Amino acid sequence: MAAKSTNLMIVSILFTSVTLCFSQSSNGGFLSPQFYARSCPQAQQIVNSVVTKAVAREPRMAASLLRLHFHDCFVQGCDASLLLDTGNGIISEKGAVPNNNSARGFYVVDEIKSAVEKACPQTVSCADILALAARDSTVLAGGPSWEVLLGRRDSRNASFNGANNNIPAPNNTFQTILSSYTQVGLDIVDLVALSGSHTIGFARCTSFKQRLYNQSGNGQPDFSLDQSYAARLRTGCPRSGGDQNLFAMDFISPAKFDNSYFKNILNSKAMLNSDQVLATRNRMTLGLVQKYAANNQLFFQQFAKSMVKMGNISPLTGSRGEIRKNCRAINT
Ligand code: HEM
Ligand SMILES: *[C@@H]1O[C@H](CO)[C@@H](O)[C@H](O)[C@H]1NC(C)=O
Ligand SMILES: *[C@@H]1O[C@H](CO)[C@@H](O)[C@H](O)[C@H]1NC(C)=O
Ligand SMILES: *[C@@H]1O[C@H](CO)[C@@H](O)[C@H](O)[C@H]1NC(C)=O
Ligand SMILES: *[C@@H]1O[C@H](CO)[C@@H](O)[C@H](O)[C@H]1NC(C)=O
Repeated sequence: MAAKSTNLMIVSILFTSVTLCFSQSSNGGFLSPQFYARSCPQAQQIVNSVVTKAVAREPRMAASLLRLHFHDCFVQGCDASLLLDTGNGIISEKGAVPNNNSARGFYVVDEIKSAVEKACPQTVSCADILALAARDSTVLAGGPSWEVLLGRRDSRNASFNGANNNIPAPNNTFQTILSSYTQVGLDIVDLVALSGSHTIGFARCTSFKQRLYNQSGNGQPDFSLDQSYAARLRTGCPRSGGDQNLFAMDFISPAKFDNSYFKNILNSKAMLNSDQVLATRNRMTLGLVQKYAANNQLFFQQFAKSMVKMGNISPLTGSRGEIRKNCRAINT
């Protein structure tokens, strides 16, 4: 009798966990750190070794790979739609405004994919490769580590319009930026922590020129930008031309993943308008910027959490999507 009711209890607990699991599936409940433990135990090590070599060749690659995961996840979820080239009915997201002449590192993803395919044919998705490469890049640049959840599958389409509409632009208003996060299930804390990615990498003159010359259409610069810093930026980013010239987004420690991004914001020396508005348009984001500027550990902890959350945006799991053989094209 006692045994029977214990059994019943176990069954009901099991049933509850299965139900919980299913209810989580829409936001990535089926992803697991062990996904390739049997099918490709070397997967993580292979990704890490290619990323390590690529970042040793060029430190900026850490930033570029981290950004690819973001630009993938904000468009139809983390499904490697970003990696598809134009052709066979697909209009590549790579040509969309946030990516064109800007998103980079695709050849490194190809290198990773071919190394992984050699070891475990058609087993590891391109979407998971992006998630692992983003984590490894962050660590190589001196940032925090986290356990990457795996089991995403790759899309059979891309969304050029989604890439134009869903990835926030540097001159969007604070409200527009925040709603692009809430639309994919991320919140204001994720917004501030993930923006901390701009502690590494580069922006083109075109991404912040408006702040230097004509912030509000009245011929005046952005006065929330330190004016001596602005003058320095103008020397490499002229009123006309020079659009592709590159500038470190964190002028203090451009290749080091640390909290100096937040210190720059508090000193009115953030590069993008979308960075500076975190301190000027909302009391809660200002509080978080101050907290992370004062405490690197808090930033690292929240960054890791928010990256896992971002990696959970609408993954294709189960039998949805496919495991691409080549990240640039759907399987034929
Ligand atoms: C708040 C919303 C965001 C906006 C408006 C934004 C905008 C931008 C812009 C305009 C650039 C420079 C691109 C160029 O000029 O070529 C950039 C670079 C970068 N972004 Fe963001 N970003 C945002 C959030 C994020 C997030 C969430 C991540 C990662 C989790 C991220 C990671 C990066 C990195 C690492 C770079 C440097 C890339 C490189 O050097 O190749 N950004 N971002
Ligand atoms: C991307 O930029 C290139 C070079 O600036 C330009 O020729 C091309 O038209 C752009 N692509 C799209 C889809 O706008
Ligand atoms: C891509 O495919 C998915 C799943 O079939 C679908 O829901 C989505 O609308 C498609 N996106 C585009 C831009 O066609
Ligand atoms: C933002 O920049 C884009 C591209 O440079 C421009 O077309 C648009 O008018 C700007 N938007 C605002 C609100 O300034
Ligand atoms: C600033 O931008 C506005 C509209 O965005 C334009 O009408 C004006 O001519 C520009 N002024 C200067 C000085 O570039």
